[in-house]
Amino acid sequence: MQRIFSGVQPTGNLHLGNYLGAIRNWVHLQNQYECIFCMVDQHAITVWQDPKELTRNTREVAAGMIAAGIDPDKNVLFNQSMVPAHAQLAWVFNCVARMGWLNRMTQFKEKAGKHKENASVGLFAYPNLMSADILIYKATHVPVGEDQKQHLELARDTAQKFNSDYGTAFFPLPEPLIFGAATRVMSLRDGAKKMSKSDESDYSRINMTDDADTIALKIRKAKTDLFPMPDTVEGLADRPEAANLLGIYAALSDRDKTAVMAQFAGRQFSEFKSELVDLAVSVLGPINAEMKRLMAEPSHIDAVLRKGAERANAIAEPILKDVYDIVGFLRP
Ligand code: AMP
Ligand code: TRP
Repeated sequence: MQRIFSGVQPTGNLHLGNYLGAIRNWVHLQNQYECIFCMVDQHAITVWQDPKELTRNTREVAAGMIAAGIDPDKNVLFNQSMVPAHAQLAWVFNCVARMGWLNRMTQFKEKAGKHKENASVGLFAYPNLMSADILIYKATHVPVGEDQKQHLELARDTAQKFNSDYGTAFFPLPEPLIFGAATRVMSLRDGAKKMSKSDESDYSRINMTDDADTIALKIRKAKTDLFPMPDTVEGLADRPEAANLLGIYAALSDRDKTAVMAQFAGRQFSEFKSELVDLAVSVLGPINAEMKRLMAEPSHIDAVLRKGAERANAIAEPILKDVYDIVGFLRP
């Protein structure tokens, strides 16, 4: 059986990278697979979160997913802390995965920065909770942006080590699904940095809550160079900002980059940008409006998440029981 699991941290500023690298792909996949999508609030608190903001952001990410087209009846949509089996399996994985594996994780290095000693233990163990998120449902496929590839490799290694330590074929080895023209959306201010929720400049990203004027302003101010659109992909090799905008256009219009490039070859980026504004507003505008409508009714979102959590628990609990039996824990 094929099953999809993926997650987003409810840490505010849901942005175009989240949308193009992840959520938009999930919308396409929901018709082909059984899908479970999660607001990973326990991952969020690996760095400090204001409690009220965390609650609000959890609802906002859920609203963003639903507004983008994820059907909460067809798919399982919930927040992680409502399903205790994630944390319970994560503890088992803390005892399976090796320190050396976690020491190699680039996301930890980036997030901990120079102050490694001061990072939370949770930030270090983060990938084990992520492996548990996926494997507590025996998910086989995990659609994510490119930045999560290393974590997925760790999840596979952990599944494999559990299986071989306990002499079982219990866990599947989950496959990453990384596709589309924008698997790594870069900052609008610096083509060497990925677009991120935590960049201090709001001009670095397009938020899913931005209105049409803000989207237009941010795209017009986005960094580019003096050259026109080339006619081959190689022509963008040393032009990361230009390549990023092309990727965004292609992903938003569900076309490939070469087709978009052919359309704009020889034209100035100022012209290209004004068409990109129109496209971005036409795609994001309706999502933004629907998000606002949903956010005005938080009790409806909460009910959706509670129902999702019930369905998630029903899948996760028997799998956790089997894991406990394999490990040799006495159960009630
Ligand atoms: P996060 O916001 O870190 O919880 O990420 C949620 C999802 O969005 C994950 O699948 C990420 O890989 C994806 N994602 C985050 N930032 C980007 C980006 N700049 N470009 C493409 N995908 C991204
Ligand atoms: N680590 C992911 C991110 O920062 C979020 C995440 C947590 C996730 N658990 C997951 C993604 C399980 C896919 C599957 O983007």
